[in-house]
Amino acid sequence: MPDPAEWWRQAVVYQIYPRSFADSNGDGIGDLPGITSRVEYLRQLGVDAVWLSPFYPSALADGGYDVDDYRDVDPKIGTLAQFDEMVTALKAAGIRLIVDIVPNHTSNRHEWFRAALAAAPGSPERDRYVFRRGEGPNGERPPSDWTAQFGGSAWEPVGDGQWYLHMFAPEQPDLNWENREVRDDFLKTLAFWADRGVDGFRVDVANALVKDLTPPLPSQAELDADDLPDGVHRLLDRDEVHDIYKEWRELFDRYDPPRTAVAEAWVRSAHRRARYASPDGLGQAFNFDLLLAEWDATEFRKVIEENLALAASAATSSTWVFSNHDVVRHATRYALPTGIDLKAWLMGDGATPPPDVERGLRRARAATLLALALPGSTYLYQGEELGLPEVADLPREALQDPTWIRSGHTEKGRDGCRVPLPWTSSGPSFGFGTGPAHLPQPAGFAELSVERQEADDTSTLALYRRALAQRRRLQTAEGLEWAADTRDDVVEFRRPGGWTCITNFGDAPAPLPRGRVVLSSAPLSGGTLPGDTTAWLEPTD
Ligand code: GLC
Ligand code: CA
Repeated sequence: MPDPAEWWRQAVVYQIYPRSFADSNGDGIGDLPGITSRVEYLRQLGVDAVWLSPFYPSALADGGYDVDDYRDVDPKIGTLAQFDEMVTALKAAGIRLIVDIVPNHTSNRHEWFRAALAAAPGSPERDRYVFRRGEGPNGERPPSDWTAQFGGSAWEPVGDGQWYLHMFAPEQPDLNWENREVRDDFLKTLAFWADRGVDGFRVDVANALVKDLTPPLPSQAELDADDLPDGVHRLLDRDEVHDIYKEWRELFDRYDPPRTAVAEAWVRSAHRRARYASPDGLGQAFNFDLLLAEWDATEFRKVIEENLALAASAATSSTWVFSNHDVVRHATRYALPTGIDLKAWLMGDGATPPPDVERGLRRARAATLLALALPGSTYLYQGEELGLPEVADLPREALQDPTWIRSGHTEKGRDGCRVPLPWTSSGPSFGFGTGPAHLPQPAGFAELSVERQEADDTSTLALYRRALAQRRRLQTAEGLEWAADTRDDVVEFRRPGGWTCITNFGDAPAPLPRGRVVLSSAPLSGGTLPGDTTAWLEPTD
């Protein structure tokens, strides 16, 4: 019996982007009762946990990553009582819950930020954020030329010569983590949700909290040049950030079982990432290396080897991710030529080149079976179990991502992977709700609906359900042994207990290893493994 405190080490975690999952009251926005009504679906899918993207009160300047109040639910999507009902329903189905926590910035509507604006320069209210005097006699120019993640300046003036820092949208002022009150308030927030039955936290931009703002501030060019993998960066991945997570860990460990956390930290080397995942820190960190890798056996093997070694050295387990709410869905990435500029492709509404949809889905299914066979935990993004593609041709007037406006309409942003799920093949929003959805769904979603796929044994949904059930049965200790003498375009490994996973990244059929085929991502023929296919086998005796 595995230690219940270690449940997360090999968990399958399903990411729900609440506004696009299920809408219970027909206002076009997914909500918490919508999630509760679909717990049975999650149970049948076989996931161990759900990660809920932000559901806090928010003006949605950045899809909820602009939080007005960390200890409440957005009235647009529910109430605290409905949150509790959702937790109860998930628990009853044996599903744990991880919530998103956004510590780098609040929203500009947070009571602290309102107080900061109302207070004078140099006041304690302003010290919770990063205010600096602008350049020029009246502070009329920004304190530095830094650019924000979504485009434009990273500084916003407040009218009295002072500017505040926002690494993301202007509606997301950065907090000052040197301020003890900020640290204490987040501890309070974490305890608030942990006491409400939350099992873990996904920590948004975990690498950005601590910044060195000692004057003179460097230029953007100097920041960009500061790219040594182990170099000390002024704004990101500073060693001092781990002091914060030590305090969080002390709080997590006061619970039984201890609360877990996973860092979102796009750091420069896998080796730096391991520090976020240490047992006296957050415990786990997202590994986006497979998400960034090309569909290539050598690349996959290298990523897997490196991350398993790093996870072991940090006494944690690795994580595997192909899709989330920030990136082009992987069924579409794999449908496009290697090395393509995805931003430019989206700007052309996904028309040139047209995606090879069939090939993309075939590879996506193979990739998922491969990841699900690896030691560690796999994070799935809602809709990938339906093989949903990126919606590349959303009407421009429907776009919500701040990137679209902040880039001066030169970059569309991330809405194409946030289109609401199709539950049925008909209805105003394919069963998402009773009215139109907040982002329009393409007609092609009809044939990808849950309803349609539940009736088809060869569907992607059927494959995910079988894979999760088999994984539960086969998954044992965390080891992995590479097969000897495989072809360059084949990845093959064996897990403790003799479970074998083989993926053919090439075109020519590959010989199948000995054993009984448990599952394959595409039909097998003549005892061989076709191209772009993964199979799982178990020993025959
Ligand atoms: C993370 C989130 C992303 C958000 C950003 C700012 O990267 O995943 O969606 O825009 O942080 O909070
Ligand atoms: Ca709703």
